[in-house]
Amino acid sequence: MLLEAPVYKELFGAVEIYEVQKVIKLDTQTRDVGSFTVTNVPREDIYRTLEDIAIVVPMRNEKLQLVDGVLKAIPHQCPIIIVSNSKRKGPNLFKQEVDLVKHFYNLTRSRIIMVHQKDMGVAEAFREVGYTDILDENGSVRSGKGEGMLIGILLAKAIGAKYVGFVDADNYIPGSVNEYVKDYAAGFLMSESEYAMVRLSWRHKPKVSTKGLYFRKWGRVSEITNRYMNALFGVATNFETSIIVTGNAGEHAMSIKLAEIMPFSTGYSIEPFELVYLFETFGRWGEDPHTDVYDQGVEVFQIETLNPHLHEDKGQEHVVNMILSSLGTIYHSRLATDSLKSQILKELRLHGLLGENEEPPSPRVMAPIENIDVKRWMETLEDNAETLLRFEV
Ligand code: GDD
Ligand code: MG
Repeated sequence: MLLEAPVYKELFGAVEIYEVQKVIKLDTQTRDVGSFTVTNVPREDIYRTLEDIAIVVPMRNEKLQLVDGVLKAIPHQCPIIIVSNSKRKGPNLFKQEVDLVKHFYNLTRSRIIMVHQKDMGVAEAFREVGYTDILDENGSVRSGKGEGMLIGILLAKAIGAKYVGFVDADNYIPGSVNEYVKDYAAGFLMSESEYAMVRLSWRHKPKVSTKGLYFRKWGRVSEITNRYMNALFGVATNFETSIIVTGNAGEHAMSIKLAEIMPFSTGYSIEPFELVYLFETFGRWGEDPHTDVYDQGVEVFQIETLNPHLHEDKGQEHVVNMILSSLGTIYHSRLATDSLKSQILKELRLHGLLGENEEPPSPRVMAPIENIDVKRWMETLEDNAETLLRFEV
């Protein structure tokens, strides 16, 4: 793969955010050389890295045709982890997903783990290891994409993956998913730190209009989140920037070493919170006991995909909630100044998303998973979960 070289980056303590790098050529070999401004990450290296990347696919009531395309597009070397929160009755969509996955395995012999988020065995496994941040008042795992991802990260760690990457299940272009995973690999191959994250930005996010497909450059949510994420970076470092273009990147990946020391927030605030957390914690020396992270640095790569991103439209209310919870992570950050906070309130009130005396929601945070005894968690899961499917090659 040829990518714009990572020439420019912003530093905030030990956090290094690279400027967005465009994919210039999707598929190259070792003998194809790059230049000062173009990095060559050869296909041979990418394929060697893929088997270390577990791909987590969180899903909730998505169209089966889309799920099918996504699974078929994930490079064969990557173990697949499916965490579903789909309906189990009226109709039983989860059963349809299980049938699809079994059929897919019979055809492909891919490595797959699948589990239902609300399986009481999953909750039991968390209780067994003393981790209750993910449980609701009834003792089962809460709903939410962030919660599904956290289960996925633990499963990735349990099977010994070195990296974990996420792809949404509602993608209309299977080929784009194949690219995303290779983009993750390219990012990890460019990184020099063991604490690395790769976040994808879209070249275009097409919308259907009366004139046909319209290739939008920016989503509504990401435009707003990125503006305030950059503002947060600015007030915290005293250097304004526009470097962050992936505040909401659902398609992203990280090394397990980084994933296990980070707390995660719930639902759709998970992605912006990751950045806020990194700034708060590794932006200043001595905030965290993991001294190795300060020594190596945390590298955040932002890659602009070649493929457009075309996914399900989940409606206006969904968008409103996502803006509120994304800006909530920035508003409630201890790095946010009073002036930034009042700008956020003004923006949300202007758009009618918040009443006069209201504030955006504060993110609900789940502790890092590093202290979980993964072996015990996995054994408890295997003994208690009714929905756990595990296919080895
Ligand atoms: N396991 C699980 N549990 N998965 C869920 C849940 C849940 O409770 N809720 C949603 N998902 C799955 C969806 O089925 C989909 O595969 C993925 O999470 C993303 O959810 P969408 O509802 O499609 O979100 P979106 O498309 O509006 O937003 C996406 O892009 C944003 C950035 O543009 C998400 O990836 C966001 O997290 C991201 O910020
Ligand atoms: Mg979607």
